[in-house]
Amino acid sequence: MKTIGVLTSGGDAPGMNAAIRAVVRTAISLGMNVKGIKSGYSGLIHDEVVDLDARSVSDIISRGGTMLYTARSKRFMTEEGVLEAVETCKRHGIEGVVVIGGDGSFRGARDLSNHGIPCVGVPGTIDNDISSTEYTIGFDTAMNTAIEMIDKIRDTAQSHHRCSVIEVMGRHAGYIALQVGIATGATGILVPEIPVDLDRLVKKIVEVEKTGKKHFIIVVAEGVGGVDKIAEYIQEKTGIDSRATVLGHVQRGGSPTVRDRVRATQMGNAAVHLLYKGIGNRVVAYRRGEIVDFDIFEALNMIKTFDAGMIDVAHETAI
Ligand code: F6P
Repeated sequence: MKTIGVLTSGGDAPGMNAAIRAVVRTAISLGMNVKGIKSGYSGLIHDEVVDLDARSVSDIISRGGTMLYTARSKRFMTEEGVLEAVETCKRHGIEGVVVIGGDGSFRGARDLSNHGIPCVGVPGTIDNDISSTEYTIGFDTAMNTAIEMIDKIRDTAQSHHRCSVIEVMGRHAGYIALQVGIATGATGILVPEIPVDLDRLVKKIVEVEKTGKKHFIIVVAEGVGGVDKIAEYIQEKTGIDSRATVLGHVQRGGSPTVRDRVRATQMGNAAVHLLYKGIGNRVVAYRRGEIVDFDIFEALNMIKTFDAGMIDVAHETAI
């Protein structure tokens, strides 16, 4: 392969820039040319393609967001859209594409691969909800941002003897909520993977209050939602003044942590090595301390089990 493309797709995640940088520089080191595709699959349909060289990706390793922009393209979900994207690849001599994004982006990579443009997916989403990998780019930074915010909320909750109910991101998944809840010493963690039992939570708050605790942090995954209602319910049942906070998109920004920069660099590098060998229709993953890869179809059909044991750790330590 002489020329490859790179795009970012779906929600942005801190570390995507580090992955782009790794893709560009690895490809150049291996003697290939690189084209940057702007705004995800939409840019591939609308021919937003630029040449990238080693200097195009200078000073981006420390920056959040994605220099290539990102989008969720409805048109690319149609056969016509995929064919338009294939045409753009042919026009620019793009023989393979590295797709940095989540599961939805991998489905696009599979479709493009099936139409003769080999693609390799790199997992990038703060949610860490991709089954084939234990780690996704952006997860660590998002969690660190969330704990920084929650530590600040704790200061005011403590001063007022309040219960703070805080929503963290995770549209369908509670991975951020679970680890952030443990890291902030939350009394309760609510995730979509486990049925929500508000009465059990209230009982716990009341029991813990009896031991002298006067402020409480409850971390709720976005996929559970309803933090206003949950705060009202807790206040009504316990008499503890309660407030709800939605952290929102602040979790998606900021300079990536060491972990995100390094994983992104390893994964971007691995993706290019696959394309260099002419191997497409794969996704790169992190498993048991190693960078590995899987067939996209296989990866999309994997099931990620939620670590319920961690919930027990959280319960037993938040008393
Ligand atoms: O998938 C990442 C994520 O941040 C989810 O946690 C969240 O639900 C979603 O993206 C928000 O998407 P958008 O930025 O399009 O509102």
